[in-house]
Amino acid sequence: MKRNLLFISRYPEIIDEFQGILEEKQIETEIAQNGTDAMELLKQKEYQILVTDLNLDGYNGDKIISYVNQVFPNTICMLYTNSISAVQLGFYLNKRDVFRVFLRPVNFRQEFMQALEEAYELYDLKKHDRDSRQERLKQLEDNRKAIAEIEGSDGLERLNEVRQAVLGKKGELTAVLKGMKDVAPEDRPKVGQWVNDTRSAIETILEEKMKKLEADALKKRYEAEKIDVTMPAVKHEKGNLHPVTQVRNQLIDIFASMGFEVYEGTEIETDYYNFTALNTPQDHPARDMQDTFYLSPEFLLRTQTSAGQIHVMEAKKPPIKIISPGKVFRSDDDATHSPMFTQMEGLVVDKGITLCDLKGMLDELVKKIFGKETTTRLRPSYFPFTEPSVEVDVSCFQCGGCGCKLCKGTGWIEVLGAGVVNNKVLEGCGIDTNEYSGFAFGIGIERIAMLKYGINNIKLLFESDMRVLKQIDD
Ligand code: PHE
Repeated sequence: MKRNLLFISRYPEIIDEFQGILEEKQIETEIAQNGTDAMELLKQKEYQILVTDLNLDGYNGDKIISYVNQVFPNTICMLYTNSISAVQLGFYLNKRDVFRVFLRPVNFRQEFMQALEEAYELYDLKKHDRDSRQERLKQLEDNRKAIAEIEGSDGLERLNEVRQAVLGKKGELTAVLKGMKDVAPEDRPKVGQWVNDTRSAIETILEEKMKKLEADALKKRYEAEKIDVTMPAVKHEKGNLHPVTQVRNQLIDIFASMGFEVYEGTEIETDYYNFTALNTPQDHPARDMQDTFYLSPEFLLRTQTSAGQIHVMEAKKPPIKIISPGKVFRSDDDATHSPMFTQMEGLVVDKGITLCDLKGMLDELVKKIFGKETTTRLRPSYFPFTEPSVEVDVSCFQCGGCGCKLCKGTGWIEVLGAGVVNNKVLEGCGIDTNEYSGFAFGIGIERIAMLKYGINNIKLLFESDMRVLKQIDD
């Protein structure tokens, strides 16, 4: 680095004398002849060395040194004077940073030449010291910043960003390591040590902070997911099947356990399957009981699941043992009758089937539906497709047969119609009546549900009133 110097003197002969020496030493020299000029020069640049007389016009040497001490702490100041008391000298050396004080009358020139070399040496040292001090300060500042950021970071994600910013490949610490080449060789171990210390300090803090954040997050989660076992339980409404579906399923289970298969027919039937094939031709008086909804002269909504008997017997050779549940439709509407209701047909065709088989099976069935004590009673009846035909009553499961409101004091409740399959029907389906016979029955499912669950109006089963329906969960 080019050496420079500011020489302040009010004596032209001294200026001449020293200018020569300084030129020889290739020191870039500025000359000021009074304090005012000197201050002007000092406002423009920093000098490595300042040599000044004590007594100057404008600002005196003491003021100038004071200014330089404050503004340019690296600059080496030297003072010369013609006469100075020991007290004054002590004052300057104490209050100001003055490297040397010369007394002009005493070998000034020689002393100055020597001091000049030392002054430049000191300047280099001071500057280096200052630079590394500044560097260290800057690093400390960075370090503080990093720690403050870690302390202040509130989320794990943010913490990772900070880690990247400080310790990462492009991080600040890595940058310091990369800048090592610019550090004086003798200082490198120190800086290296510092970088390592800082790194491990930051890592420790990061880790602690990370642990704390994780613990906080977990705590928050526990708080949020806390279960108060004393809180009233949230009630989840449990749905249940419709009473008609429940009874239908119960019946299917019972019949399935007896070896019946399930055949599901169609709700739209032809006049033939619903009536004619069931020995109820056009103009048969029995049709009056089952008036229905006609879609055309040929198609109608079935009035009875008995239509399924014909389909099964046409499709299949005996032995036949089926049940056929489904909706049926009639022009009927009162407290115990609905235009749409549900039946379950039963048909057994095999060798040697009699009314006894029907009675035995029905006894078994009602015990399973209404309870072990229940028995059946057959009363003569009429259906065109069975011969003989019966109405089946069950012993009143409420009063045990003594007579109550449910059985209207009779001790018996009518539950279904049944009979031995009329030979005409079997023959119509191509079944040899010399070999085979059968029985059939038709159960009204709503009727069973009403009896079983104490429902007094069939409409309740079709009004979808949850207050009624949810009471029945069998
Ligand atoms: N289908 C008849 C009705 O709906 C019931 C029944 C079925 C009677 C089978 C006898 C045999 O009334």
